[in-house]
Order: sequence, then structure tokens, then C-alpha cells
Amino acid sequence: MNVEIKGFGLAQADKCVTNQDLMKIVETSDEWIKERTGIEQRYFSTTENTSDLGVRASLLAIEDSGIDSKLIDLIIVATITPDAMMPSTASLIQAKLGLNNQKCLAFDVNAACSGFLIALQNAQAMIQSGFAHNALVVGAETLSKILNFEDRTTCILFGDGAGAVLLSQSARNKTIGHYSRSEGDLEGVLTTDSLMLNPDFKSNLSQSNYLHMKGQAVFRFAVKAMEDAITEICRNEKISLDEIDWIVPHQANKRIIQHVATKLNIDINKFYINLNDYGNTSSASIPIALADMKNKELLRKNQRIIMVGFGAGLTWASTYFVV
Ligand SMILES: CC(C)(COP(=O)(O)OP(=O)(O)OC[C@H]1O[C@@H](n2cnc3c(N)ncnc32)[C@H](O)[C@@H]1OP(=O)(O)O)[C@@H](O)C(=O)NCCC(=O)NCCS
Repeated sequence: MNVEIKGFGLAQADKCVTNQDLMKIVETSDEWIKERTGIEQRYFSTTENTSDLGVRASLLAIEDSGIDSKLIDLIIVATITPDAMMPSTASLIQAKLGLNNQKCLAFDVNAACSGFLIALQNAQAMIQSGFAHNALVVGAETLSKILNFEDRTTCILFGDGAGAVLLSQSARNKTIGHYSRSEGDLEGVLTTDSLMLNPDFKSNLSQSNYLHMKGQAVFRFAVKAMEDAITEICRNEKISLDEIDWIVPHQANKRIIQHVATKLNIDINKFYINLNDYGNTSSASIPIALADMKNKELLRKNQRIIMVGFGAGLTWASTYFVV
């Protein structure tokens, strides 16, 4: 059974925060951030939690697909910043979309910045197995909740937002394929604080959950991971890079993308880049980029697209699809 991405949607968080705004919080400069990352601004959410952003992106993806929301029978949300440890953000989105009274399963996946592609891979497998017919696949984050605004090496990189796609059965020929890998990291390359054991059985209200990162180690991993994921998806799908119209990368750092473009000898203009506007929104970055492209009328029927992501875990993944 073939599947196809039929709708795209994105939700921006409410507060646009420029590099100049961050200069009032940490010792940094617009030049440093732009030169080292390419980021000019990001959006932080002051009112909506992850599920609210996910709902807004989902409603747009459903509308774009033209599919009756009552036919959605699977919701997978990729996030590392859920509203709560439980219930899942997907369950909250199901309820907020009014999809409770039907045969529908909702759950979250955590594969950090590769999460959206892993969620998509799961949704495809569940549709092809006959379990589901129409899947909402969402990447949604409120990373501002876990940023340490005293750490200038991380707080300048990330943003909040959500993107969603509607994946459905399709009468067209095979239009989607995946590659994904992980390598467990005990070195703390990209982590949040651990949830501590509580041997005294006392309430622990002071536990923090900040993000920590070894920037240069992540940079080196990211270049290697993207190179592998792009090369392997082309091999799996028996397609050459010349035949690809767009590469939609995880939007972490423009210099990472430039390194990959140089190493694989790909024209940098084939990469869709909007991290200058959004920063790194983790699992939301790829679906936001897709919806952004759709809104700008850059996605055309039969174009061949590779999406590629990498992140904590460590995880990396790529998806090939035909628009
Ligand atoms: C974080 C990152 C931008 C740092 O860039 P870098 O070129 O490696 O910079 P370095 O860590 O070598 O730091 C260089 C200097 O800039 C300083 N610096 C760090 N953050 C700064 C900031 N926000 N503003 C100004 N200066 C800063 C450092 O303190 C250091 O100063 P020093 O030379 O006096 O010690 C880069 O490593 C990176 O993007 N890594 C990947 C991160 C990522 O993508 N994470 C998400 C993955 S999903």
C-alpha cells in the first residue's frame, strides 16, 4: 500500500526575539550569532504550550490536505518539550482537535531533532500494515522551557514552534522511503538534566531540566550524520543527488549545512534554509520548513525531496519523498 504526504501546516510562537533582544539577556552580539550560526531571530511562546502550537499546525495541515478530520485514526507527535511527562502531547492534541470519539491512537516519540522523521517512518509503517489510514504527524516544541538563559552557548540557538503533515494512503506509486540510525551517547554531548532518584522520598521542587550541549562535538557529529543520511537514502532509493530538487535539512546551523554541501558537492541552493527566521526548533524544524516552502509555493508536484535530521540520542534520519 502506498502512502503520500497530503497536507502541510506550521505554527509560529507568539513572540519574535531577535539577536539584539538576546544581547539584553546574555553577553553576545548579533554579528557573533549570525556569523557562527546564521540565526537572526527566533520565536518564543509566552502563551501557548507545545500541544497548543501542535493543534494550530495540525488544523492547517488538515485543511491543506482536504481530508475530513474525522477520518484521522493516528496522531504521532515528536517532541522533547511535551506539555507534561504524561499524558502524551499527542493525546492532548487529539482531545483539543475533538478527535476523541473515534478509532484513533495518539502517542509521542522522542528522538530529539530527528523525531519528526522517525514519527513519519512509524506512521508510514502503521498505515502500510493496515492499522491506520490517515495519520497526523506533528513536530512541536517549546524549547524556551528548557533553555538556560545564563548559558550564551545554547540559549541563542533555539526557538519554539510546530509543524505538521497529514500522511495518507495513496493511489500513486511509491513516493516515500526512510533511513534512520542511532548511537547511544553517554558522554553528554546533547542532554537535559537527569531526572534524579528520590531516596529521601521528599518533594523535590527545585529540580531543573536545562539543556546542555558540547557545541563542537555536536557540530562534528552533525556533519557526519547528515552526510551518511543523505548518501544512504540515495543508495536505498536508487536515486542520484542530481535528481533531487530540494534537500530540507534540520535547521540547526547554516555552517553545518554549508559543510555538508561542500563535502557532498551539492549546490547550497538546493538546501531549503529558514533557520535565520526560526532558529533551531528541534523536532519542529523540518515540518516547519516544509510548510514554509508550501506557503511560498516552492513545492511543486513530482518534485523529489530529501529531508534530513540529526539530534540528541544521538539520532539521525532521512526521508525521501515525491511531492
Ligand atoms: C554552538 C556553536 C555555534 C559554537 O560555535 P563555535 O564556533 O564552535 O564556537 P566555540 O564554542 O569554539 O566558541 C568560540 C568563542 O565564542 C564564545 N561564545 C560562545 N557562545 C557565544 C555567544 N552566544 N556569543 C558570543 N560569544 C560566544 C566562546 O566562549 C568562545 O570564546 P573564547 O574563544 O574566548 O573561549 C557551534 O559549536 C555549533 O553550532 N554547534 C552545533 C550546535 C547544534 O547545532 N546543536 C543542536 C543540534 S540538534
